[in-house]
Amino acid sequence: EAPRDLKIGSAVWGQNELLDYDKKNPTEFQQILASEFNSITPENDMKWAEIHPEPGVYDFSGADAVVAFAKANNQEVRGHTLLWHSQNPQWVIDASATWSCDEARDVLEEHVRTVVGRYAGEIYEWDVANEIFQDDWDAGGVRLRTEANPFLKACAEDPVALLGDVFRWAHEADPEAVLFLNDYNAEGVNTKTDAYYALAQELLADGVPLHGMGAQGHLSLMYGFDESIQANFERFAALGLKVAVTEADVRMPLGDDGEPTEEQIALQAERYDAMLEACINVSACTSYTVWGFDDARSWVPGVFPEGYATIMTEDFEKKPAYYALLETL
Ligand code: XIL
Repeated sequence: EAPRDLKIGSAVWGQNELLDYDKKNPTEFQQILASEFNSITPENDMKWAEIHPEPGVYDFSGADAVVAFAKANNQEVRGHTLLWHSQNPQWVIDASATWSCDEARDVLEEHVRTVVGRYAGEIYEWDVANEIFQDDWDAGGVRLRTEANPFLKACAEDPVALLGDVFRWAHEADPEAVLFLNDYNAEGVNTKTDAYYALAQELLADGVPLHGMGAQGHLSLMYGFDESIQANFERFAALGLKVAVTEADVRMPLGDDGEPTEEQIALQAERYDAMLEACINVSACTSYTVWGFDDARSWVPGVFPEGYATIMTEDFEKKPAYYALLETL
């Protein structure tokens, strides 16, 4: 049982896993999803390319399946996501080549009001804007993604004004939802979270309905671990914001046999747990979500030369990371 009202979640691809859901006859995956978690995040189903594949055409099938599954199992839903540089449909990419800021705003406003409005009252937290910061190592360093993100690009003269309006539109469409910024490399205190913090202050000073700071929590054992997570969460909480771990996983390079070492397995458990401990220790932390719970469905091997990133194996065998989280809860 989670302390206070902390939600424990997993991402799930509704289009792949939940369309056939029958409560009386669940798949093993569905059974685990229903019994181990009290929050779910659509892994892809609410992204632009899935939910708004053509101009004026929405496909709500995957997102509806996620919301229906959550309802059937007394879970809550984290919405993900309304503004991102990735997984945009081809029509947006094509149209954006000639967008003025006003044109980009109109397209975005219609989308935000439609999607948030459809699920009003059924989403407790929304990742409104995702990965809007570049990293240190990107050209130009840490700053808003005014090149890769087609909407921010069209409004590059004042991207903060656009961001503020995206939150306002979402808030009008669902006044109950807690509205988040969300990013990776946003766990500890670093140059990216310094920029994130400054933006949050600016938006709040403008009266923007920004309510939360999401740290994705995609960690890798190839890199060191940042011990300043709790300090980072505390500084955002001091602004009056909620915080959340939104996409936790801990990947690692595997040997020629495709297996992790005992040491890696133990370290993975420590890092999953450190993120949960930080969340539990900061009362503003509302949710801790893993980005999929089993290795068979993890996004990691498709994107990185790493694996073993989730808390259960391909056969749903629980790893030490699973037991570490359970113990902390
Ligand atoms: C990933 C999904 O897990 C994959 O299935 C998809 O192919 C690509 O996107 N940060 C995010 C998530 O905010 O939306 C991404 O999800 C993982 C990184």
